[in-house]
This record gives sequence, structure tokens and C-alpha cells, in this order.
Amino acid sequence: MKQPIGIFDSGIGGVTVLKEIIKILPNEDYIYYSDSINNPYGDKTDKTIINLCENIVKLFIKRNCKAIVIACNTASAKAVKYLREKYPNQIFVAIEPAYKMVHDYAYDKPTLVMATKGTIKSEKFNLLFHKYNNHKTYLLSCVGLADIIEKGNHEELEKYLRKTLGIYKGKVKNVVLGCTHYPLIKNEITEVLGQVEFFNGAPRLAVHLKELLEEKNLLSNEGIKGKIEFIDSQNLKEKEERFFEILKNAEFIL
Ligand code: DGL
Repeated sequence: MKQPIGIFDSGIGGVTVLKEIIKILPNEDYIYYSDSINNPYGDKTDKTIINLCENIVKLFIKRNCKAIVIACNTASAKAVKYLREKYPNQIFVAIEPAYKMVHDYAYDKPTLVMATKGTIKSEKFNLLFHKYNNHKTYLLSCVGLADIIEKGNHEELEKYLRKTLGIYKGKVKNVVLGCTHYPLIKNEITEVLGQVEFFNGAPRLAVHLKELLEEKNLLSNEGIKGKIEFIDSQNLKEKEERFFEILKNAEFIL
């Protein structure tokens, strides 16, 4: 194995980030860690999330990862500052809700930010929000949604979205997918809200990761397609199957 890139989430949602990374870094090897035993992260305390993330980071360091991607908005919001301070020699790249993109490309349009309660309430997100506030933004804590997506129950998902998003129909034009699980349900969100523009931080993160590796001369240039190793904290076979199934398909459909 080449020196791999470690990437993790509370479950398989981070596959939406990995997919964007592979598009521009196809020759790298990846270790994806799905922490399904501790899913969801959304309602956990900062301290708990920091501990969970640190354990995963230790594993990646042991496996000699050259960079670590935090493919979970909640974990990024709560743990990245601590991790960067504690492991200053390690490269960390962390996802955050793509609210700046709204500011840059669609500032005048009413916007809905969907994320976990942990992300919406975090200091990190609030700094971002106040910096780029377009004063036409609704913040929605989607309690339990990542868990429903993780389980893959269609009926439950539709019911949830009708109940929580219905009131925004016709009111919003931009939707920020502030949790890495949500790009998997773009179609279902569109069914409730109608045509909206989605904002996802993953493509930008991928470019940033590539730039960092280039800068530090750490890119794999061997021209051989990379490998992906999947680890689930519960060893669930069905998670692994679903993960690779999603990765195979170009579009993210539940
Ligand atoms: N994918 C995680 C995120 O981006 C989901 C959080 C959860 O497990 O609640 O926030």
C-alpha cells in the first residue's frame, strides 16, 4: 500500500466526500473509517466527540496516513481545533457547511442550511454564519436525519422530510447540505422543496486536500489506481456493501 489518506465519519455519509476526492486524486490509497457504533454524532457532547475522533486519528497515525480527512461536519465543528493543536505535524482537512459558497455565488437568494444540531449550535459554524450572513437564511437542525439515512429506510425518510421541510417549500432557493449524509438524499429533498440549488462543501475540500499534498510533495504519482480499505467500528458487512455500492454510482441515491 502507498502511504494512505485516512478519512472518517460517524457512518457511511462521508462517502459523499470521498467520492469528490477520488475524482481528482484517483491514484491515492484510502482508509475509510465508519464509526457506526457511535452513530449519530449529531447530539453528542463536544468532549465525547473529541474522544471518539482522537481514537480514530490514533489509528490513522498508526497506519501511517499522510493526511486525515474529517468527512463529518459535526466532528469538524467540535474536534478539528483540538486535533490540530494536539497533532501539529499531521495534515487535517475538515469539511464545513458550504455557507461561504452561498455568499460568493447566490447571496441574494433565500437559503436553508440543513445540518445536525451539533453543527448548527457549534461555535465554528456560528462564526462562519455571522461572517457570511445573507440575512435571508433559515438554520435547520435536522435531529435524527443522518441516522435515518444511515439506516436507509425510505418510508421513514420521506415522512421525516415532509414534516420538517414542508414549511420551506416555495420559501427557499438555496439549500446548504451541512452534513455529509445529506448529498445522498438530494432527490428526496427536491421532491419536497421543488427545484433548489444545492451547496456542498466536498468538491472544495477535495481541491484543498490536493493543493496541500502538492505543496508538501506528498502526491502519489505512480499512475496506478489507488485502493480503498473500509473499516466499520461494528464490522457490519451491510455497511461495507452499501458504501461500495454508493461509491460505484455517479449519482447519490438512497
Ligand atoms: N455525517 C455527519 C455530519 O456531517 C453526520 C453526523 C451524525 O452522525 O449525526 O455531520
